[in-house]
Amino acid sequence: MLKNDLLLRAAKGQEVERAPIWLMRQAGRVLPEYRATRSKAKNFIEFVKNPELACEVTIQPVDILGVDAAIIFSDILVIPEAMGLPYQMIEAKGPWFENTIKTKADVDKLRIAEAGDLDYVIKALQLTKKELNDRVPLIGFAGAPWTIFAYMIEGSGSKTFSKAKQFLYTQPELAHQLLEKITQSTINYLKGQVAAGANILQLFDSWAGVLSEQMFYEFSLKYMSKICDALSPLVPVTVFAKDAHYAVQKISETSCNSIGLDWTINPLTARKQAGTKTLQGNADPCLLYANEKKIIEETHSMLSAFGKNRYICNLGHGLYPDIDKQKVKFFVDVVKDYKWE
Ligand code: CP3
Repeated sequence: MLKNDLLLRAAKGQEVERAPIWLMRQAGRVLPEYRATRSKAKNFIEFVKNPELACEVTIQPVDILGVDAAIIFSDILVIPEAMGLPYQMIEAKGPWFENTIKTKADVDKLRIAEAGDLDYVIKALQLTKKELNDRVPLIGFAGAPWTIFAYMIEGSGSKTFSKAKQFLYTQPELAHQLLEKITQSTINYLKGQVAAGANILQLFDSWAGVLSEQMFYEFSLKYMSKICDALSPLVPVTVFAKDAHYAVQKISETSCNSIGLDWTINPLTARKQAGTKTLQGNADPCLLYANEKKIIEETHSMLSAFGKNRYICNLGHGLYPDIDKQKVKFFVDVVKDYKWE
């Protein structure tokens, strides 16, 4: 039995005493402790593949920041690698793929990944589950098929992801074949995460915002919806589609349990569109550059707009590496100390 199950109760729409809080990228460079552990590995990929080190940085924010959940330290790009498309993480630049997907032969060559192909993540989850000792829930995650597709075609980050979008316009059938393969791989992987102890899952559609509304439904939401159907009978699932502000209602029609919101979405508007689904978010990460008075004001107004139940407090996207750790801790404390009506 979990000692603190606020996150799971909130995700399932059950009553809570206060809203749970965790932060996207809480296991990351804002913590000097993370940087110290990271320096023990040769590079980012070796770090991700080391279950002991991954476990250590997964638990750090629970101890240091007092958040109500741990999110397993890994990356969304482990899926392309497990399917046969390895990546590198270039310092200060981001992900880079030597080979990208261009033709039907490239798509056909990719494997459908099994959880066993990602045994290092599975081991990291098992170890973390044991070390957490049921203090807080453990969050598993994967990239949304569209975001993974975007990296597999583009080969790196991009402002526009125009190569990936070109693929959607010029080879839509092949795009669907690839999205289907990614979806099946992701379902296998997430089922493995649940078997290894993940209590709740989040899909990150970081590049939803480069698609038009219609293309988001056709090439992204359709596949996230399939993943929700496969996983939400097992554990709660959160869908976070960054910059898809128009899609809250459509996302609420999937079998997800909660909807992640970026900071561009008004909490009251989202409430009207989301039916009975739980909402997660959505403070601007840049709020944490402000002074304490401003952080308190903005956080209180966000909390009162969302209300206590069916709400998971978070940022609208991940923490930026240059945010002061003390400010992050301050924000977490403001949320935990809030006097709910
Ligand atoms: O704390 C957590 O949220 C868990 C760990 C986590 C990481 N990546 C670790 C990481 C999670 C959930 C991710 C997801 C991820 N990875 C996403 C989706 C979320 C989002 O931010 O939109 C995306 C798009 C990626 C791909 C990725 N990984 C990029 C573009 C980068 C480089 C940018 C950067 O911040 O340096 C990464 C690297 C990465 N993944 C880091 C961390 C902590 C930083 C690497 C480092 O330690 O130097």
